[in-house]
Amino acid sequence: MPTLAVVGTQWGDEGKGKITDYLAEDADMVVRFQGGTNAGHTIGIGDEVFKLHLLPSGILREGTISVIANGVVCDLEEMGEEIEQVVSSGRSVDGLRISDRAAVVLPYHKILDGAEERYRGKKGVGTTGRGIGPCYADKISRYGIRAGDLLEPEYLSERLEMLHVIKEKLIEILGGEVPDREQVMKDLLDFGERFGKYITDTSVLINDFISNGRKVLFEGAQGSMLDIDHGTYPFVTSSNCVSGGICSGAGVPPSAVGEIVGIVKAYTTRVGSGPFPTELLDDLGEHLLRKGGEFGTTTGRARRCGWLDLVVVNYAVRLSGISQLAVTKLDVLNGLETVKVTTAYEIDGKETKYFPASLNRLAKVEPVMTEMNGWDDWEESSVEIARRGMNALPREMRDYLAFIEKETGVKATILGIGPKREETIDLERDRWNC
Ligand code: IMP
Repeated sequence: MPTLAVVGTQWGDEGKGKITDYLAEDADMVVRFQGGTNAGHTIGIGDEVFKLHLLPSGILREGTISVIANGVVCDLEEMGEEIEQVVSSGRSVDGLRISDRAAVVLPYHKILDGAEERYRGKKGVGTTGRGIGPCYADKISRYGIRAGDLLEPEYLSERLEMLHVIKEKLIEILGGEVPDREQVMKDLLDFGERFGKYITDTSVLINDFISNGRKVLFEGAQGSMLDIDHGTYPFVTSSNCVSGGICSGAGVPPSAVGEIVGIVKAYTTRVGSGPFPTELLDDLGEHLLRKGGEFGTTTGRARRCGWLDLVVVNYAVRLSGISQLAVTKLDVLNGLETVKVTTAYEIDGKETKYFPASLNRLAKVEPVMTEMNGWDDWEESSVEIARRGMNALPREMRDYLAFIEKETGVKATILGIGPKREETIDLERDRWNC
């Protein structure tokens, strides 16, 4: 099966953008299937740095088709800005395709995202404020506007009329300025004119590519602990980030999903509120924050940092059927005397390897940790170490990786030892199995 999927195994920000960009080298098509501009991918190519929120990472590879599939919530204003970013670097976006069934993020959604958070007060989710939850809520409530509607002005006007009335009432209650309906309509028609050439039935396109043996890469956003069903509810995003989300979010059957690469950051981070059993609230947490540059690409917020939690990673392996791991940011752990890994939780004196659903039980978790020897910083550049391969890595780092593989039962085939494409060690030659 010539398809690969990349999914996050933690709370997002695992380095999926870099790995997707790396894997996209061989792909004919890259597909985003969930989330929206809440995602933030930083991709370094030589001295160039790109910050993408919505466009699939494949957009930076010439000749690759980049799909925003039906499961994505599409902020067209932001997309326009990202297109400009890519075009001004001398690249083309001719390969972009947007599903006619993708939900469109509207000004109401962003206003309500902020208003709902204000109402939740201290119990807020800590959303990215990009209108993601309200847009998905409208889709589920069947008020949503879809990308294909922008090409049918009369129908669009009817849909907006209905939606506007409901949103107006809500905004009046929750607080905020109601957007001008005429202006919203005008902007949507303008988006339709600018982006209409990219809007199509992407499910047909993706399935055709797969049938013709062309290589398709599914690019997940966020991570399985932020999944609406399986994550740390209610401190989650509003989509299915696990591999199951690929089928509904891209319009492909389960049999179309081949190898699934789970991205594991060598330690754990999370942005926003919610449980985080291995969080480090001391100098070490601060050290990982600074050394790892752990500031949100989307919001600039400092990420909470902690030790690697294999209860979390194993949960993701089970939920998504992960068949390979990409372990990223290993270099951030360089120079530590010891490193710790959590393999189980103790709750009320009982040990478990399964991540609990209950916030009350999560609050009682005592992580069961294994302490291992750390390793020194290396003197060569990470590019040089990567060029020399696995054997150039410090022995203790290799032990750390072997421990992860033993505890998860999954092979680590990609290692990230720096932010650049060239700072990657790939141990698998025939990942696409074709
Ligand atoms: P929303 O997706 O903006 O509704 O935010 C819901 C939760 O998911 C918040 O805790 C966000 O910080 C978190 N979140 C959303 N997208 C990402 C991401 O791409 N990386 C990390 N956290 C995210």
